[in-house]
Amino acid sequence: MTKGAPTSRLDKLLANMGYASRREIQMLARNGRILLDGVPVTGADARLALTPHLEAGLVVDGEALDPLPGVVLMVNKPLGTTCSHKEAGPLIYDLLPARWRRRDPALSTIGRLDKETSGLILMTDDGAFLHKVIAPRHHVEKRYRATLARPLEGTEAALFASGTLMLEGEDKPLLPARLEIISPKEAFLTVTEGRYHQVRRMFAAAGNHVVALHRDRIGGLTLPADLAPGAFYRLSSAEAASVLARPEL
Ligand code: URA
Repeated sequence: MTKGAPTSRLDKLLANMGYASRREIQMLARNGRILLDGVPVTGADARLALTPHLEAGLVVDGEALDPLPGVVLMVNKPLGTTCSHKEAGPLIYDLLPARWRRRDPALSTIGRLDKETSGLILMTDDGAFLHKVIAPRHHVEKRYRATLARPLEGTEAALFASGTLMLEGEDKPLLPARLEIISPKEAFLTVTEGRYHQVRRMFAAAGNHVVALHRDRIGGLTLPADLAPGAFYRLSSAEAASVLARPEL
C-alpha cells in the first residue's frame, strides 16, 4: 500500500463511485469480476490505497475504473443547458456518463453559466478546489467573449476598469474588469467576480445588450478549440493547478 495515500474499502469506494450497492459489489468481487493488475480481488473488504496505480490497474466487470475521487473536468457547455440538478430541460449533468451522476461526493459545477451562455465550465468533486476557484480573495479571472446588439461607444473599457461601476440593485461596486475590443460589436471581458448575470448586466449598465456570451478562459486555462460543445475531458493535476495561476497576457 502506498504510504500517505488515503485508503478505502473496495465495496465502499465503488459504491460511492456509483457502480452498484455495496452488496452487489461484494457479489461481483466474489465472482472474480473485479481485477487489480489482472488478479481477482475476491474480498470486497480489501482496503486499497487511492493512487494512480489503483486507477490504472483496477478493472470492474471488464471496464477500466472511472476517475478516483478528486477529479476536475473541463466541460464545453452548449447553449441551452442549465447548470442545475433539478430544473426542467437539458442539464449540464446530462452530459456526464450516468454512473458519474451517482457519485458521492457528487460532481458539481464550479460556479455557473447562464442557460444562454456557452463555453468553459469546470466540474469537480473536490470541495477544497471548488472553494479556491470561487473564493473572491483568489481573484480567479474569467474571460468572456460578448457579442453585442449595438456598436461599442469607446467609453466602456474605462467604465469597466474603474472599480466604481454599480450594478442595478446592488450596493457594492464591481471590482475592475478588463475589456478588449475585437470588433465594433464584439469584445472580450475579463472579470474576477461571479455576480449574478454579471457580464450581461455590465453591458446593460453601459447602455448595450449582450446577444451572445461565451466563456473561453478561467485563470490560466483556455478552452481548447477542438473540445466540441457538450464534450468534456478530465484535467491533469497540472492543468487543474493552472486554473489558479494567472494567464500569461
Ligand atoms: N455573466 C453573465 O451574464 N452570464 C454568465 O453566464 C456568466 C457571466
